[in-house]
Amino acid sequence: MRTRELTRRSSVRELYAHPLGRDVVESLALQVGRSPKWIDNPLVGSVRLSALPKLTGGRIDDAFVDALVALLRTVPDAPAPSGMPLREAWFKEAVFYQIYPRSFQDSDGDGIGDLRGILSRLDYLKGLGVDALWLSPIYDSPMDDMGYDIRDYRKVLAEFGTLDDFDALVAGLHERGMKLVMDLVVNHTSDEHAWFQEALRDPASPYRDYYFLREGDPGTPPNNWKSFFSGSAWRWFPEAGLWGLHLFSSKQMDLDWENERMRAEIVDMVRWWRDRGVDGFRLDVINYISKAPGLPDGNRLIGELIGWTGMEHYFHGPRLHEHLRQLRAEAFDDPDCVAIGETPGIGPQMGKLMVGDDRGELDMIFNFEHLENPGRTRFDDYRYDLGYLKRYYTRWQAEYGDGYWMSLFFDNHDNPRFVSKVDPRPEHRVAVAKLLATIQFTLRGTPFLYQGQEVGAANQAFTDLAQLRDVESHNLAAELTASGLGPAETFARVLAGTRDHTRVPMAWDAAGGFTTGEPWIAGDGSHAEINVAAQEGDPDSVLEWHRALIALRRSSRALVYGETVVERSPRRVWRYRRVAGEEEFLVALNLSDRPARLRAPGAGWRLERASGPGEGPLAPYEARVWRREPAG
Ligand code: NOJ
Repeated sequence: MRTRELTRRSSVRELYAHPLGRDVVESLALQVGRSPKWIDNPLVGSVRLSALPKLTGGRIDDAFVDALVALLRTVPDAPAPSGMPLREAWFKEAVFYQIYPRSFQDSDGDGIGDLRGILSRLDYLKGLGVDALWLSPIYDSPMDDMGYDIRDYRKVLAEFGTLDDFDALVAGLHERGMKLVMDLVVNHTSDEHAWFQEALRDPASPYRDYYFLREGDPGTPPNNWKSFFSGSAWRWFPEAGLWGLHLFSSKQMDLDWENERMRAEIVDMVRWWRDRGVDGFRLDVINYISKAPGLPDGNRLIGELIGWTGMEHYFHGPRLHEHLRQLRAEAFDDPDCVAIGETPGIGPQMGKLMVGDDRGELDMIFNFEHLENPGRTRFDDYRYDLGYLKRYYTRWQAEYGDGYWMSLFFDNHDNPRFVSKVDPRPEHRVAVAKLLATIQFTLRGTPFLYQGQEVGAANQAFTDLAQLRDVESHNLAAELTASGLGPAETFARVLAGTRDHTRVPMAWDAAGGFTTGEPWIAGDGSHAEINVAAQEGDPDSVLEWHRALIALRRSSRALVYGETVVERSPRRVWRYRRVAGEEEFLVALNLSDRPARLRAPGAGWRLERASGPGEGPLAPYEARVWRREPAG
């Protein structure tokens, strides 16, 4: 289906009928806690976009309207209406577990996790009910961004092991009926990658066109785009007299996907890993790979609204779908090879354009809108309101019918622990961790656990910047300090959002169990209490709650493929059913730290699991799951 081409004279109603326009409007409505229904009001719906500057007293300016219209015009396709048949697949039934290799298990005492370490823990993961692993990058890298800066795509970083170790890991997984998904970082490479080095050294090198290298005045970057890791997105290379584009750290140089030869090399490389037995890929910031021709300046207001100037020119670039289709057709040309896109900034409608079964692009995506409350960023210290999560998932579950599939996650290596964001008080940690697990294992979509989540790991009580290792945290601290913020405020802000909360060593036992040496990053000692060994076999533990819910999900088609029917409930309660034919589950969740009244489900329902008393009002953060008794 094609979208209607919008102009400044288009109406707000036409904007809402457009997939990107609809995502923008619904996201704004979600942010302010209102239904987008007001667009049905003829007065509002018929307002022309060109009238917005006047109607908003200039807060929206003409340049914004032009930028918005230009952006909408880069999306010619609309998602297919629902009605596609359900496609069953292993990765829809599977429970995924993300491993941060540097921090999972060290096998040789150097303080750095490695592949042999992971291999030694496969039985634990199998016993938990995990079906597939996603490994954060293990490729050769100078580790400026902990491996998301790849120096050689066909080599394993020596600290992690060798290709033989990798092959042994794949074999170990496959023997156990498990699968392996690799991180694929192809929006950028390290500046130490041979392609980039050649490009810098030799003006006649074909590799010059693999990147965005621009001549110019050393004092003036080619455009106003901002890097996600602070400052301008351009780095000056005096040795070549060139500017280079880096959306992330100054050592992560963006690849220019206009270059056909570069794309072919990426396809070859992916196939090389597939030949080693890899079952799929998680594609790092994959929606950023197509940049607007000419790399125009970003709009000021859009930059302020989303926090990064320039993003409208690459978060959904003009050739994105074409590139994704090429990858699917040439690199992932097997329906069993799963392709999971990391796609910051993509809403439900735009997401459908990437994961629809009719599209031939990706199988599912990771979005991030649910991780922060409206108006908040990762670096704000605040208590997350789960009412927003309910509204968010209700919207996505309703949008994603049989031809679409979504991922379900709360923790990863880029975020603090979600459990701490919801409620940092230790006395609520276990209940919140169980509540979140219940959401992940009973909604429709593929659950992704992140290491440590299964024991309810919480944020770390870091006390000093020197304890942090992440380039993003250090760049931010430098930026805040330069802007005049004092050391205490700077540290507090960095602490709220640092990615190192989830990058500390996995807690295996009271002594840690991660390494016999000095860990590359130290946690705050909470592993002494919160660890795997302490929870194994304890029916009340977060770990056993995970095991039980994974088993429950596996026991029922309804919990995997069933429809999600959200029931009316008070604001603080979330109540939904999962239905597939005769099979049916009912889930009731208390989203607050106070007891909540509950309408009993009535006869015919058997309580399967309760994280609290299981009867009467729901206890703070309690989760209950019932199964409908078979008739007769
Ligand atoms: C997303 C990754 O998850 C993150 O860790 C990394 O810093 C950026 N992409 C850049 O590769």
